[in-house]
Amino acid sequence: MTNEIGVESLVDGCRVNRRLYVDRELFALEMDRIFGRSWVFLCHDSEVGEPGEFRTIQIGNQPAIVTRDEHGDIQVLMNHCMHRGATVCQQSRGQVKNFRCWYHGWTYNLRGELIGIPYADAYGRAFDRSVKNLFKAARVATYRGMVFASLAAECDELVSYLAGAKRYLDVFMDLSPVGEIIARSGGHKFTYEGNWKFQLENGVDGYHPNFVHRSFWEMQPEGAMDMFSGTSPGLTRALGNGHSILDMSPLVKPRAGNGSAKQDGAPVRSLPSDGLKPKPMGDYFDKLVSAWGYERAVEVLEQSNVNLLIFPNLLIIGVQLRTITPVDVTTTEVYQQPTTLKGVSDEMNIARLRAHEAFYGPAALGAPDDLEMFARCSRGMRVREREWITFDRGLERERVINGERVGHITDEVPQRAFYARWRELMASPAGDAARAPANSHTHASHQTR
Ligand code: FES
Repeated sequence: MTNEIGVESLVDGCRVNRRLYVDRELFALEMDRIFGRSWVFLCHDSEVGEPGEFRTIQIGNQPAIVTRDEHGDIQVLMNHCMHRGATVCQQSRGQVKNFRCWYHGWTYNLRGELIGIPYADAYGRAFDRSVKNLFKAARVATYRGMVFASLAAECDELVSYLAGAKRYLDVFMDLSPVGEIIARSGGHKFTYEGNWKFQLENGVDGYHPNFVHRSFWEMQPEGAMDMFSGTSPGLTRALGNGHSILDMSPLVKPRAGNGSAKQDGAPVRSLPSDGLKPKPMGDYFDKLVSAWGYERAVEVLEQSNVNLLIFPNLLIIGVQLRTITPVDVTTTEVYQQPTTLKGVSDEMNIARLRAHEAFYGPAALGAPDDLEMFARCSRGMRVREREWITFDRGLERERVINGERVGHITDEVPQRAFYARWRELMASPAGDAARAPANSHTHASHQTR
């Protein structure tokens, strides 16, 4: 299939072939070579806090279950009965003692081990129960409560894979004075007409907000649109392995004085528009200073003003985790979850949720606009005469600083980095064999922090 598609030629420098958005065969290859090889974000561990709590998710387009077993370990089970293949769990989340397939009643425990077969005496001596346990992801790891899995046994350690994105995950978690977030405030799921990559491109695209979301910005205080103007001091950064950020921290007003560790307790100012994130309130800043020290507290507040893309399926925007699930080549499911902070006042967490709802909720002022753009791009891609889509904005002013490619906030640095990683994974057939989920007995997992 690879040679027929000529996949390595479909990303050529800063241009990508339109087939990346419309070709079913290419989509199938993406499921193998991207979602079958990369660490894929699944959920936050607070969503499966108790034994038996579960969430059904997808790794690429393969159904899976994340649960916590009786020993407190997170398990990632493929949602596929080892009798005749039905999914064994249908609900999106809940709490169970075991998973029972409704078709013929085979039952599996929280570690995926087959523990029950109705009328079992009909199976002969050659029947080996030990190979009938649910398949598991080959590797599972968490970082600061974020649960990732890989279907490939051979892959980098998660921390290495995260590369420069680790720093911004740390910032997101350190917004809590105890370093932990909670993802149990609900969320909403939507499906859009368009390829899964449109949402990833968009989440770190600083070129579109003043046009797509113009009605929102016009409701904000004067100067809000400067954030994404051609003269904005904001930046884009490629963080390695296809990860990137839209960096709005340069817009934060400098600290009082000369920027030294002045213990005046004055919190940094938020962005020109306060419409997307709540301001620090009450004793929140003091709690951060107590926990992390003044310098780190200021750094956390400033550097949290980013949109973070973790390749291939996670965006962290504002207070939310946004998981992107490919359904088919022109259908994508997105799950947005606002998070709260451990160790802060209810008032602070409520403000986070209200700020999230205002722009990203189902009837909000921002996010629905993007869905219309994805549908328009999807329809536009049917024009076959246009073979190449270009991501060349800011190419000549892009520079490397401390090993990271950096550009203006409206430049297409993140998209170029995303597609460079896409090409790297898609063009290499090696490792296809390693993508198969492991049997329960070969499962490996570890947790970091
Ligand atoms: Fe699950 Fe038959 S398919 S018990």
